[in-house]
Amino acid sequence: MTSSDIWDAETAQRYDESSAFMFAPEVLEPAVDLLAELAGDGPALELAIGTGRVAIPLAERGVPVSGIELSQPMVDQLHRKRADIPVVVGDMATSSMPGPYSLVYLVWNSLGNLRTQDEQVACFRNAARHLAPGGRFVIELWIPGIRRFPPGQAAVPFHVGQHHVGFDTYDMTTQQGTSHHYRRHDDGTVTYGASNFRYVWPAECDLMARLAGMELERRVADWNGTPFTHDSESHVSVWRMPV
Ligand SMILES: C[S@@+](CC[C@H](N)C(=O)[O-])C[C@H]1O[C@@H](n2cnc3c(N)ncnc32)[C@H](O)[C@@H]1O
Repeated sequence: MTSSDIWDAETAQRYDESSAFMFAPEVLEPAVDLLAELAGDGPALELAIGTGRVAIPLAERGVPVSGIELSQPMVDQLHRKRADIPVVVGDMATSSMPGPYSLVYLVWNSLGNLRTQDEQVACFRNAARHLAPGGRFVIELWIPGIRRFPPGQAAVPFHVGQHHVGFDTYDMTTQQGTSHHYRRHDDGTVTYGASNFRYVWPAECDLMARLAGMELERRVADWNGTPFTHDSESHVSVWRMPV
């Protein structure tokens, strides 16, 4: 039983269009470049593969890619675009694919979809289980935006525009968060959607990686290799299995 929200058919159908900014070449190409370099000659496994935003261009570079994904509708959208990417429908904390892999990766903050520490620890262990000796686990994750919360305030906006207002609420005792989205449509109607997550600091990720037998090899702020500093709002981290 997973704690993750299940992405439904309507969300899956709208995913590529509503995430268009994440498909932009300047966002996607540096990610695919680094993942292709880290995969080397070996196959890659994407946890929470979604509709194949990253997996499809990586496969087009000649890297054999497989996936694990909780939402069947997301997998259906992926296979509509490219049918030859093997995916098991299941929880990334526990599901298996035949391996081993030289690279396992989990991008766009998707670790946070696992909303308990036990499941996140299990996810790191599952990644490690799929890796060959010397193989690498890569995650892309945002840094919890706690500094944006003035004392006593429970919600902070992350986007205020004409068609969309989004704000986060955090519970700092449990590391749980919710992103709330209000969207105003062309006909004047407003819809509300929310997604839930468990936020986690890089140091906790490092500990989970160590529990799974991996060591930190590299941490940068983004796919372009920007140095990671105390002001970074995200990190791309690479842990490695012993050779
Ligand atoms: C933000 S999307 C990222 C999809 C894709 N990796 C990308 O970069 O476009 C998060 C994905 O995580 C999936 N997901 C959520 N919880 C999961 C779980 N426990 N196991 C596997 N996939 C999960 C969702 O169904 C969704 O496809």
